[in-house]
Parts: sequence; C-alpha cells; structure tokens
Amino acid sequence: MDEKMASAQAVIPDDFEMPTEAFDIPRSYMGDLSAVVIPEGMIKDRVRRLAQDIHSSIGSEPLALLCVLKGSYKFFTALVDELTSARFNCPHPMTVDFIRCRSYEDTQSTGTVEIIGLSNLTELKGKNVLVVDDIVDTGRTLSRLLHTLQESGVKRSWTALLVSKRVPRSIDVAEDFVAFQIPDKFIVGYGLDYNQRFRDLRHICVMSNSGIEKYKNLE
Ligand code: HPA
Ligand code: MG
Repeated sequence: MDEKMASAQAVIPDDFEMPTEAFDIPRSYMGDLSAVVIPEGMIKDRVRRLAQDIHSSIGSEPLALLCVLKGSYKFFTALVDELTSARFNCPHPMTVDFIRCRSYEDTQSTGTVEIIGLSNLTELKGKNVLVVDDIVDTGRTLSRLLHTLQESGVKRSWTALLVSKRVPRSIDVAEDFVAFQIPDKFIVGYGLDYNQRFRDLRHICVMSNSGIEKYKNLE
C-alpha cells in the first residue's frame, strides 16, 4: 500500500453483535440469523468514504471496474455510485465489467481461476482495473484472479473488498481498499450467501446454528 492510501480501518470487534429484532429483517429469515453485525446504513456510509479514498489514491486515470459476481453485486453498485460522485471532475469515464470465478481448490490446482462472463479477458488488456469482491478469507481465489488478470496483460490492478475476515491467509494477497475488517464468523447478507440464500438481506448478519442446519446442502 503506498503512502497516499488511507490507513484508517473500519474494524468490527469480535463481540460486536446487535439483536435481529432491532432491525427490519424479513420474517422468513428471522430464526436463521443470530445477530446483525453491519447494518446497511453503516455500509453505505463506509462505502462513500472508501470511494473517496480510492479516488485520491488512484487518481483521475481511466478506470475499469470489475465486479466479481455474485457476492459483490450490492457492494459494486454502491461503490460505482460513490465513485461517480468522487470522480465528478475526472476527464476519463469509468467502465464496468462483470465476471464470475470458479476455482479448483479440491482438484489439482493450475494456479488460476476459471473466469466466466467476460467473453474475452483481453478487453482489460492495458487497463487500470479495480477488482471489486465481496470477501477475502484464505485469499486463494482472489490471488488466483489477480494472477490471471496479470497474465492477460492488465496495466495495473487494485482490489476493493467489502469485508476482510480476521483469519490467517494461506497466501499473501493485495487488500488495497477494505470496507470492513470482520471477526471469523460466517456472515450473510448484502450480497453474501449461504448456499445461494440471504443475498437479498439488507444487513450483514451472522447465521444461527439452526439456520446453518436448515439450509445445509440446499442449492
Ligand atoms: N459468508 C459467505 N460467504 C463466504 C464467507 C462468509 O462468511 N466466507 C467465505 N465465503
Ligand atoms: Mg458464496
């Protein structure tokens, strides 16, 4: 991280949990969640400042925003909106692209991820790319994605992450712009899923044990 980048971090402490009953959680999700850890309003406020930090660090150069689906769909839209405001005076517009990643961690690893969505990664060749992802924990998928982008000839890449989990990384990966650092708990909401559920939930919440059981092996 270079000097111009913001150093202040938004850290969610291990014991920071609020009752789901204090928020507008859909009734159908109530028993599946044990607590709210990051309310939607806090995410929106933090994303605004993150966009300002990204802009002052990256500057006015042309920028390609890359949304890593599905988990970052909400974070991406919020960030694009805030970056549009932050870059109001920039002579260069931003572009947006969308991908999905499939990594092969259980089979013999090729060290790359299969990228689905962009018909041709050479679309990003020579560009400054901001990779927007929802979560980093082991760092493996993100690291492989960055490696794959590098091989396709991007000029420079940065990462913007909604949450970074306090777990040991199995690999060193660039976490350039992190909205929240969170405890090692399984979270859902604001795009994050458990077996494809809960992405539509407004707030980032912790799953309850009964919720984890209920949606186990359900796709
Ligand atoms: N929630 C959702 N998806 C995830 C998580 C999590 O806590 N960690 C890794 N992928
Ligand atoms: Mg997921």
